[in-house]
Amino acid sequence: MHVSAARIEPDFPLAAGPDLFKTVSSHWPSGVAIITTVAEDGSLHGLTMNAVIALSLNPMQYLISVDKGSNTLPVLKAARRFCINFLGEGQRDTCMLFASKASDKFASVKYQFSRTGLPMLEGAVSCIDCDVDSLVPAGDHEIIIGNVRHIEHFGGEPLVHFRRAFHTVTPG
Ligand SMILES: Cc1cc2nc3c(=O)[nH]c(=O)nc-3n(C[C@H](O)[C@H](O)[C@H](O)COP(=O)(O)O)c2cc1C
Repeated sequence: MHVSAARIEPDFPLAAGPDLFKTVSSHWPSGVAIITTVAEDGSLHGLTMNAVIALSLNPMQYLISVDKGSNTLPVLKAARRFCINFLGEGQRDTCMLFASKASDKFASVKYQFSRTGLPMLEGAVSCIDCDVDSLVPAGDHEIIIGNVRHIEHFGGEPLVHFRRAFHTVTPG
């Protein structure tokens, strides 16, 4: 098949507003994770995220992208470690709790501490502890690359987010 070079049409109205950006992004189905961390005073913090990527196998690294307005971000940067809780299908309420600005998100959820001392939420499919490797400013977010230290896989079906609603996986 012959593909001609793209023509540049300077008067063509470009469609790239923030509403369209959000609509298109919401049409990309993703799993949902809660990133947890521990402050120096022992208090627990976390937020719901879907900007979570398995970045590298050798070394094993994950990438997360956190809004600069997140209350969890400064705690995470100071702690230099975090746990990625990949949510299970029964964790919709927990997902919305951690997407809020509630002051103590851990008061009403069950969790246990991982081998490295980070909160693993009950019902998660798997949990990955990371040490912060590097930080990269990116627009209104901050990219955090973490080196994997410990992995727990509990199993179960994942929670899926698609078109601003929750779904479960149905084999096709
Ligand atoms: C499905 C879903 C995915 C989200 N993904 C992200 C994300 O990737 N990065 C981010 O910074 N916030 C994301 N959020 C928004 C945060 O969870 C929300 O801003 C939260 O209130 C931040 O809490 P904090 O300020 O206590 O850290 C997401 C929310 C939902 C519901």
